[in-house]
Amino acid sequence: MITKFDNSDKMIKRAQEIIPAGCHTYSKGPDQSPLLGPKVISHGKGSHVWDVDGNEYIDWAMGLTAVSLGHAFEPVLSAVREELERGVNFQCPSPIETKLAELFLEAVPSADMVKFAKNGSTVTTAAIKLARAYTGKKMVAYCADHGFFSYDDWYMGTKACNSGVPEEMASLTLSFRYNDIKSVETLFEKYPNQIACVILEPMEFDFPVDNFLHKVKDLCRKNGAVFILDEMITGFKLGFPGAHTLLDIEPDLSTWGKGVANGFSACMLAGKRDIMRLGGIDHDKERVFLISTTHGAETHALAAAIASIKYTRENNTIESDLQKGKRIEVGVKDLIKKFNLEKSIEIKGHPNWLLMLFKDKNGVLSDGYKTLFYQEMIKHGLLFRGTFNQSISHSQEDIQKTFEGLEKSMVVYSKALEEGYEKYLVGEPIKPVFRKFN
Ligand SMILES: Cc1ncc(COP(=O)(O)O)c(C=O)c1O
Repeated sequence: MITKFDNSDKMIKRAQEIIPAGCHTYSKGPDQSPLLGPKVISHGKGSHVWDVDGNEYIDWAMGLTAVSLGHAFEPVLSAVREELERGVNFQCPSPIETKLAELFLEAVPSADMVKFAKNGSTVTTAAIKLARAYTGKKMVAYCADHGFFSYDDWYMGTKACNSGVPEEMASLTLSFRYNDIKSVETLFEKYPNQIACVILEPMEFDFPVDNFLHKVKDLCRKNGAVFILDEMITGFKLGFPGAHTLLDIEPDLSTWGKGVANGFSACMLAGKRDIMRLGGIDHDKERVFLISTTHGAETHALAAAIASIKYTRENNTIESDLQKGKRIEVGVKDLIKKFNLEKSIEIKGHPNWLLMLFKDKNGVLSDGYKTLFYQEMIKHGLLFRGTFNQSISHSQEDIQKTFEGLEKSMVVYSKALEEGYEKYLVGEPIKPVFRKFN
């Protein structure tokens, strides 16, 4: 049973003294972990990670979904090593940029052009800028049911933690609900000829119903707005190349990142030529200063993207993830039934990205019960943060051990439902990432 986190606690305390939040995405912060849990990870191999106290876990979080094939995955590492030896950053573009662009566009037939960056926020914000330039309109509409699009002002201005963002920025951003076409129609009616683009993930944990995505695209067409699909998480995960092909919907622009390069930093803005070319220097329209970053085409990260895309395609890893996901879904549902937890634990989503939801005995979502479940899973060597992000590296034995840990966690959960999570949870519940104060 894993219960000691002394080194983790010491190291994260030091990190917080010299790094705001002690981490580089708020989702990795200590406030996102149970107190009885690892706050600092030392290393990983395949589907396993080790924390700085030497505790070993089966990793279901996989670097916020970015590690799609496995930690320190050799076919990707050898491509990276080869490129490292040749230098990583030059005065002029390197041939590997065109090589990856060709491979990516061959894999993503909905796009004619692609531009690289280091972070997801960079490419989603670039898509917004391009849409505004292309349409000459200012307003942006995003899907409020989807977790995150960017740490930039156009998005964060609308969130609880909007300090530092002028309200004028937020006033240009609107939101709508997934699978609620009326909420999209209302925006176009209320702001006629003012909306530059609509941005959403093709799906998170709810499948589109009643042709929702196609209806949104039609509204974009009718109202002269750009239709953007954010494939940051779903890309090379729900389907090959992404969820938009799985759901048979073609975006004008799409954004990619996590999962493209197995954890290395390679993100993409892709899309139709007549929009994308505005970011070029070979046309007679007004220029858009699109993505311009010193590190955007770092060669070893592009090599990682090439190796990852090829491995994913050639080994049909998405199909093997699907089979594992189906086994996990059935197994979790069986356990929920066995413990009569139907009202308090739910599993939903596509088998390649399953989400477990944790509720109290009245069926109300609860951070306390969620944190308790994570705490119990950690005790049994399972690093789990609500979603299953299986990869080619996860073995059937990993899944079997996970069922055993899930079962033991459900025993405690069942007792806690009767007696209160406070009796079993050590420390505070995990706090929402978007919050104004601590
Ligand atoms: C759907 C989605 N879009 C965009 C982003 C931003 O990506 P990054 O953290 O690489 O900036 C994220 C990150 O969580 C995301 O989940």
